[in-house]
Amino acid sequence: MKAVIGVVLLGVVLPALSKECAQLYEENGLSPNFNETIAHAIHSLTLNELRKFNPLAEELNGVPVVNPRLNDPTETERVIPHAPEEEINKNFVSEAMNTIDSVMSQVGQSGDQFGTNWPLVARIVHKFHMKDTWAKIKEEFDLMKQPSKDLCVCLKDTKKNGIFQAVDWVARQYRTAPLFTLLNKPLPKLKDAKSWEVWRARLVQYYDSQAITDAATYLSCVLNHTG
Ligand SMILES: *[C@@H]1O[C@H](CO)[C@@H](O)[C@H](O)[C@H]1NC(C)=O
Repeated sequence: MKAVIGVVLLGVVLPALSKECAQLYEENGLSPNFNETIAHAIHSLTLNELRKFNPLAEELNGVPVVNPRLNDPTETERVIPHAPEEEINKNFVSEAMNTIDSVMSQVGQSGDQFGTNWPLVARIVHKFHMKDTWAKIKEEFDLMKQPSKDLCVCLKDTKKNGIFQAVDWVARQYRTAPLFTLLNKPLPKLKDAKSWEVWRARLVQYYDSQAITDAATYLSCVLNHTG
């Protein structure tokens, strides 16, 4: 009897949807910390990259990202609600070289996302690591069936499900971390093969198949890839 009353009370106190969402996350194979795996995957997404998943991706895409002008004093938001279009320089031929050009062109400019915390090599490694992660996510995305509407309603509500908050956590790290960290552990200064070994070991942990599934599921919901 006590248990029954408890269940009834819980049902009243908790918002009806949050319980259903928790169940849907579990049933659909999302990890318990999907807020963090998905936040890592999306925190620096751009509309340009979303279009590689689905050419019809829109400006109002609902993918929260760290404000690319994070350190501009006139900006009030650490996290912006839609992955923005990034202006990619076209001074070179390949996407890789134009990406390096774009990364380098932002260093020290007003609003530079990384402020003074990020060394140049780390910025380039970060950019290409993210592009590489998106390529990995896309492999799974392309094979995935469209998730159910109910699951997508839950996953797209990023303010309620903790994804927005976790992206904000990343933004706060960018702003304040005196030491560059990954997975909450400080990283050595990237200066030679030895320090790169530590970086590589840390970076590859983000390609863990559960993390990739979480992100592919979220992006399938956002981008509605099977129409
Ligand atoms: C992610 O969610 C877990 C469980 O709700 C919470 O403990 C953790 O603080 C969240 N992480 C971030 C970075 O917001």
